[in-house]
Amino acid sequence: MTAALLSTIAEVRQAAAKARRGGAAVGLVPTMGALHAGHGALIEKARGECGFTVVSVFVNPIQFDRGDDYERYPRTLAADREFCGGLGVDAVFAPGMEEMYPRPQLTFVEVPALSAGLCGAFRPGHFRGVATVVAKLLHIVQPDRAYFGEKDAQQLAVIERMVSDLNLPVTIVPVPTVREADGLALSSRNRRLSAQEREAAPLLYRALLAAAEAIQGGCSSGEAVKRNALAVLDGEPRIRVEYLEVVDPGTLEPAAAITGPVRVLVAAWLGETRLIDNLLCAPGH
Ligand code: PAJ
Repeated sequence: MTAALLSTIAEVRQAAAKARRGGAAVGLVPTMGALHAGHGALIEKARGECGFTVVSVFVNPIQFDRGDDYERYPRTLAADREFCGGLGVDAVFAPGMEEMYPRPQLTFVEVPALSAGLCGAFRPGHFRGVATVVAKLLHIVQPDRAYFGEKDAQQLAVIERMVSDLNLPVTIVPVPTVREADGLALSSRNRRLSAQEREAAPLLYRALLAAAEAIQGGCSSGEAVKRNALAVLDGEPRIRVEYLEVVDPGTLEPAAAITGPVRVLVAAWLGETRLIDNLLCAPGH
């Protein structure tokens, strides 16, 4: 079974409004397609909580800092529709570029304090592009609930703050990261890894686990935890670390002294592919 495909704003607005009038809660799962079980977890959560679930599939050009990354991003709409149909999604909203950006976008949503560091430092304009397209999607579909993965923790923080600061009438629902059996977080970019790179990739999660273990074991210095985690990646030439940081989960500011839960985030290059991952870590008692 394939899910209904809607490609215009008018169509998806109408479908969502009709469902709402019928008493259903509307759930939105924003994606860029190339759907996998990580997206599947968001969809299943939405299906469990909402009477009408929309999955948007749009590769958003204004959030890519590198043109080649945008060009090479996988586009698999037919398979995505099948995937959504199998999970009981009510509608796939897959607008074209003309529909989302009929004119150059002159209006942007920015959350600078949460966007400057971590991924934002290496991908200028990325979170501005994300916040802007998510604001557009929320206004288009007007869902009661919208679902985002903890895999992209900085993105989730930016969106939660945007929704709160702008009083948008939607509940943001975070969904835990889905991993392969060896710990690698599922990502549309994993399919770009060579066999050798794929073999090394789970080390990122192992580095996060080393951090979690150190914190659980009573290490309260952010720098020491960081050194501990980086040591796991040190001997692996296939992994080039972009950043590894221990931060306050709310502000995303570096946590020098660990007195409560912190988030450890890592971004690294494996060949031409950039992967990210993170873990919430709490001190033991
Ligand atoms: P995309 O990378 O397609 O991810 C869509 C959603 O799926 C995001 O909320 C992301 O955090 C979640 N996700 C991806 N991999 C996951 C995993 N392994 N476990 C749990 N959730 C996972 O993120 C985007 O698209 C875009 O930036 C978007 C928000 C759609 C704006 O364009």
